[in-house]
Amino acid sequence: MTKINTINLQELKNNRPHFPVLLREVLNSLKLPSDDEPKEKIYLDCTFGFGGYSEFILSTTSTKVIAIDRDESVLPRVKSLQEKYPNRLLFALNTFSNYPKVLADFNIEKVDGIIMDLGFSTMQLNDKNRGFSFKENGDLSMAMGLNKINAKEFVNSATEQLLADVIFHYGEEHKAKQIAKNIVKHRTLQPINTTLELSTIVKEVTGFGNYKGKNHKKSDTSTKTFQAIRIYVNDELKELETALKNSCSHLNQGGVLSIVSFHSLEDRMVKQFMNDFGENIKYDKFTFYKLKDNTIDSKKIDFNILTKKPIVPTEEELEINSPSSSAKLRVAEKL
Ligand SMILES: C[S@@+](CC[C@H](N)C(=O)[O-])C[C@H]1O[C@@H](n2cnc3c(N)ncnc32)[C@H](O)[C@@H]1O
Repeated sequence: MTKINTINLQELKNNRPHFPVLLREVLNSLKLPSDDEPKEKIYLDCTFGFGGYSEFILSTTSTKVIAIDRDESVLPRVKSLQEKYPNRLLFALNTFSNYPKVLADFNIEKVDGIIMDLGFSTMQLNDKNRGFSFKENGDLSMAMGLNKINAKEFVNSATEQLLADVIFHYGEEHKAKQIAKNIVKHRTLQPINTTLELSTIVKEVTGFGNYKGKNHKKSDTSTKTFQAIRIYVNDELKELETALKNSCSHLNQGGVLSIVSFHSLEDRMVKQFMNDFGENIKYDKFTFYKLKDNTIDSKKIDFNILTKKPIVPTEEELEINSPSSSAKLRVAEKL
């Protein structure tokens, strides 16, 4: 097995199209068996991407990985890892909310770790025709795969009210109403087809400068609207909520739930879920909240939280990979 603390982050950055964020920390959380005391353990990687986590898990000889991704462009990489680690990597092209079915199809009831590295990959971001980036002009899609709707269909057909709600709740953008109004004004003249068209329409409201965030970090003023629409078209919060709820019944005793998130909506949901031991959360269309019966007695204690505060990237990682800066890892162990 590759020794976790000797993993060279700079090499990872140089040699891969996607840098596996918080890799050492995620691997350390998984209680991987040691090569001296091999014990078969099965891990579920819900967000395969370029297989950064899966590959290192498989470098421990007695492990198996069940991997899921909704994006068929990951298939060549799956194949090459399957050739490198015969019979130890099973893959399903699916959304991770369906992992109970994926596990059942592979005849597996429970696993020793469930890993999620949420959001999109660098490969998806850098392919301008996927429409995730507002920096380059591309087709306005934002679909990660297996979607019911894409961004172009959404911005050209949703009611002004729905646009405003999505941009406000999923982007936490205070100018959501004006942005929605401007989208509707433009699309009545001609359909909005590209990322730069949408970004310009947003910036007519938010300004063509930058937003200043925490630690004076600057961000493009269309970032929040793009995030909101991406979350909506990929149904990201519902995906996460369903997967979290299912984790209680599909982890072995002592198994870990290890989740890397990149924005506050996801992190809040993960934190609340872990704090509430998997009980008492309910997803509403735009919000999630605790249900009424939130007393200690009514709780079914399922998890021991291993990260009181989320784990964030080291200075070393931030220097090598600045997009890691918003990443937060939370880990809980099934009791
Ligand atoms: C941040 S990348 C994961 C990168 C991976 N950990 C690595 O080191 O290469 C996220 C991946 O998860 C996939 N994904 C996002 N949401 C998903 C969902 N609900 N179901 C299945 N796959 C999803 C995306 O298509 C993308 O490939």
